[in-house]
Amino acid sequence: MIIICPKCARKHKVNLDLIKDHLDSGKNISATCRSCKYKFPVLMDQPLESPSIEKAGYRAASRKICVTLSKGGVGKTTTSVNLGAGLALAGYKVLLVDTDTQGQSSYILGKKPTAGLTELLTKELTPDECVVKARNNLWLLGGGKSLAGVKRIIDRKSFGAEWTLAEAMKPLENKYDFILIDTSPGWDQLIVNVLFYATEVLVPVALEVMPLHGLSEFLKSLGSIQKYRKEISLKYIVPTFLDTRIKGPQILYSELKKLYPEYVCSPIRYSESLSEAPSFGKSIFEFAPGSIASADYRELVRKVSMNNTAFEKSMSK
Ligand SMILES: Nc1ncnc2c1ncn2[C@@H]1O[C@H](COP(=O)(O)OP(=O)(O)OP(=O)(O)O)[C@@H](O)[C@H]1O
Ligand SMILES: [Mg+2]
Repeated sequence: MIIICPKCARKHKVNLDLIKDHLDSGKNISATCRSCKYKFPVLMDQPLESPSIEKAGYRAASRKICVTLSKGGVGKTTTSVNLGAGLALAGYKVLLVDTDTQGQSSYILGKKPTAGLTELLTKELTPDECVVKARNNLWLLGGGKSLAGVKRIIDRKSFGAEWTLAEAMKPLENKYDFILIDTSPGWDQLIVNVLFYATEVLVPVALEVMPLHGLSEFLKSLGSIQKYRKEISLKYIVPTFLDTRIKGPQILYSELKKLYPEYVCSPIRYSESLSEAPSFGKSIFEFAPGSIASADYRELVRKVSMNNTAFEKSMSK
């Protein structure tokens, strides 16, 4: 059997005879990648369908990444959509979950879903009925105004309110390589739910005025969640709106790198294409494939997937 590391995509041959006892016991099996040391659960009941993963092997659990920061307008939605679109182009199966009442993710992808996260949380429809296909390899669980009512339902729950999203998402898990969750600005019960569901946090930080304060405040809030949920951790800080023509943003970028060297990714530069693409219902790869923004998001896809080769092969098609 072949197992593929979801982080670095290294293939490992596994002798089924050696793990037969574990299989027979029905216990969960986890594997540690010999190459990058990433530990991940292995699901034995789901044959692979993704082009990113060997047909003869078995799918690893979905990576659940939330894109979040309390401050508004920092590039959360732009990053969720374009990272999702880029991963999909690289051959990964991606589910993009929009937990924002603004419903921007659907708009950016030129979709008007008739159902989405609200219907999943209220159980009005089956999980598969709530998900719409947005592109090849890219599926969408849309947000929108109706989520406001769901937030009230969650608020009124007297027990286990923070697990509402995690429970509802269970049937959708492991069908995808990546589940990306876009959040609204601010801090509310739905964001707490996202942090009780995701395992990795990606924080876009706009290299404009006062970004570092917003980041440290958010990290404090994340710390308070981590006391109850050890599985979630900060993975990526993505500097956005880097305007290379002026000094201020570059100084902020250097400061960010000094403060959080292990998390800071290559920046997303300021680009008009990024603000224009949504009104055409296109990702940056469709709207301006040759732009600096497209190059920057490709770099982010490589960083997150840790899989340069597969991405480059499919992007050059
Ligand atoms: N690198 C960039 N260069 C230029 N414009 C950008 C860039 N990134 C995002 N934008 C634009 O900035 C605006 C805010 O971005 P976006 O909606 O992604 O932020 P957000 O954090 O999701 O906002 P909110 O907190 O309201 O949900 C959008 O109009 C978007 O098109
Ligand atoms: Mg947004």
